[in-house]
Amino acid sequence: MEAEASDELRARVQPVVEAFGDAVGGLPAGCWAAPGRINIIGEHTDYNDGYVLPIALRRGVLAAAAKRADRAVLASSLQKGGMPLTIDEDQLHPKRVTGWAAYPAGIVWALRRAGHDVGGVSLVLDGDIAIGGGLSSSAALECAVALACADLFSLALSRQDLAQVACGAENEFVGVPVGIMDPSASLLCQRGHALFLDTRTLESEQIPFDLDSAGLSLLVIDTRAAHRLADGAYANRREACEEAARILNVPALRDVQLTDLDAALEQIADPTIRRRVRHVVTENARVLEVVDLLGRGLIDAIGPLLTASHESLRDDYEVSSRELDAAVDAALSAGALGARMTGAGFGGCAIALIATSAVAHVTAVTESAFERLRLTRPRIFAASAAPGARRVIE
Ligand code: GLA
Repeated sequence: MEAEASDELRARVQPVVEAFGDAVGGLPAGCWAAPGRINIIGEHTDYNDGYVLPIALRRGVLAAAAKRADRAVLASSLQKGGMPLTIDEDQLHPKRVTGWAAYPAGIVWALRRAGHDVGGVSLVLDGDIAIGGGLSSSAALECAVALACADLFSLALSRQDLAQVACGAENEFVGVPVGIMDPSASLLCQRGHALFLDTRTLESEQIPFDLDSAGLSLLVIDTRAAHRLADGAYANRREACEEAARILNVPALRDVQLTDLDAALEQIADPTIRRRVRHVVTENARVLEVVDLLGRGLIDAIGPLLTASHESLRDDYEVSSRELDAAVDAALSAGALGARMTGAGFGGCAIALIATSAVAHVTAVTESAFERLRLTRPRIFAASAAPGARRVIE
């Protein structure tokens, strides 16, 4: 695996290595980094066997790790005060470990369940990504640990295999019914590219996503309204889609083409389920259109599709929020080419595609809109397509 040791990363790694000495003793066997993600387009499509198009962020989770002589998982998080938690082998059962430690423990559980020879592991974790903020902090944590375990125990697993391990851990061990997008983004994304992933076949393609040469920036507007996937709204959307697929007698909503949408909607009596289907089918079509435009070097033309995605998520899928709508409306009013919520919704982050020369203006307009609406001041930063998970020190 490529080892990366830029000065910036070294500076981030140093405190984690020191904390490893305090919590575990000695030096870690290595340090692994896994990024969070933002999704350019393709929202709530991954559990419908559809298409997604995420990029990796520079921010994410670092894991310093070493094998242990026993079969326990020791985990310490610098965001949680650094106090080490030990999870013995007999506690490694689905839904028994609660809180953040369920994510690293779940990875070890999922690897062992799949028959891999994974012993005990000590982990010290450090993240620079808001927890529960919609940038996939949980997938970053899982993927840093999964990659560490794969290297430490010399597992013959591909990146896509590891993404499936992470997804299985989150679904079954932690108990949150997320799809495959986030761990795939964290593990498979490459610098300067968006990951076009078919979540049915798991085939993926790296699509050049070069904002700089088009004079564009992608602003992330973190509304700081925490989203909670475990509270039922996400699972409820997923169930509605499964119900619709049953009514339409297709394996998944991915199998409904845009040209067949009207006929499909006529077969569904429930107006809420009809709206959910309309979102998923139109969203899949929008992903393909965006991929086509990017392939033709027309990154500046994707804006209206991003905004259409937001409208569909707001009106048909009903997963936006007052804060996300405020962010999108403010960015568009300040001249953004397109803007949308990104991730599961119900809070979290929006993205806006803007001319780089407009960064300060769009930021100021968005901040003052939030102030006028008496919303918490958003955190706004520009994102570019960063590399996926990797080992950062040997
Ligand atoms: C969350 C889930 C993903 C995906 C998105 C919505 O981020 O973890 O699997 O379903 O929501 O697109």
